[in-house]
Amino acid sequence: MKIIVTFLAIFALSAAVELPPSLKTCRRKDPQYQQCLSAAVPLFIKSLSAGLRNFRILPIEPLAVDSIKIGESTGPVSVKQSYRNIKLYGLTRGLEVNNYRIDFNKLILTSDSYNPQVDFVADYELDGQVLVLPIHGKGHSNITMIGLHAKNTIYCDTHVKDGETYLRIKKYDIKFHPERVLMHFGNLFDGDNALAEQMNTFIAQNSDLLFKELQASYEETFGLVFAKLGNEVFSRIPMNKLFPQ
Ligand SMILES: *[C@@H]1O[C@H](CO)[C@@H](O)[C@H](O)[C@H]1NC(C)=O
Repeated sequence: MKIIVTFLAIFALSAAVELPPSLKTCRRKDPQYQQCLSAAVPLFIKSLSAGLRNFRILPIEPLAVDSIKIGESTGPVSVKQSYRNIKLYGLTRGLEVNNYRIDFNKLILTSDSYNPQVDFVADYELDGQVLVLPIHGKGHSNITMIGLHAKNTIYCDTHVKDGETYLRIKKYDIKFHPERVLMHFGNLFDGDNALAEQMNTFIAQNSDLLFKELQASYEETFGLVFAKLGNEVFSRIPMNKLFPQ
């Protein structure tokens, strides 16, 4: 399965910048380090809602992604999917981060996160098979994850620039455990309303099963998006400022 994500152009500023006031750092020797991070990280992410100008970070509420293409997989749900003009709503609203841990030797950051509701809204094109039914269409889609619990594992390495060490996310691994998933694809079967209605009813009734089949590609996609976002911050603030001793 092949996944391609393209982003909106952001004019990257390569020079290091001052810590934004919304970014509270935690001292590594703080005995309450984990609690400190669990409080500081969601506050910082929420502060990105409207973007962060001198970091050239665009608003993340909603977070816009240009396009995503997901190739066909093998299995009961095999659908070639492409999404454009993607907006992710709800990444910051009510966000909670728990069990934040950083292994500074292996450079692995792990946390559990919770979002009350995340909507993935886009223009879609689908073509493939769901169980034994053919599916195709082109229109507006809305995939909603309610009560989204996620496990985040971020694998990093470091690089040195102008004598300063910076973290770099190599892989952002995310596992979703939504309480409920709602999916809606408008204009399925090119507007053949009877067929489209049947398919949306079928999708609604089987959304948990469908989501399980598509989950890996959505997780991979979100992982790529979050790695990109994280690196916008990590590439501009030296590691010893972000995670002071
Ligand atoms: C997407 O669906 C969710 C759940 O039904 C809803 O709350 C949200 O407003 C919808 N978003 C759009 C843009 O239709």
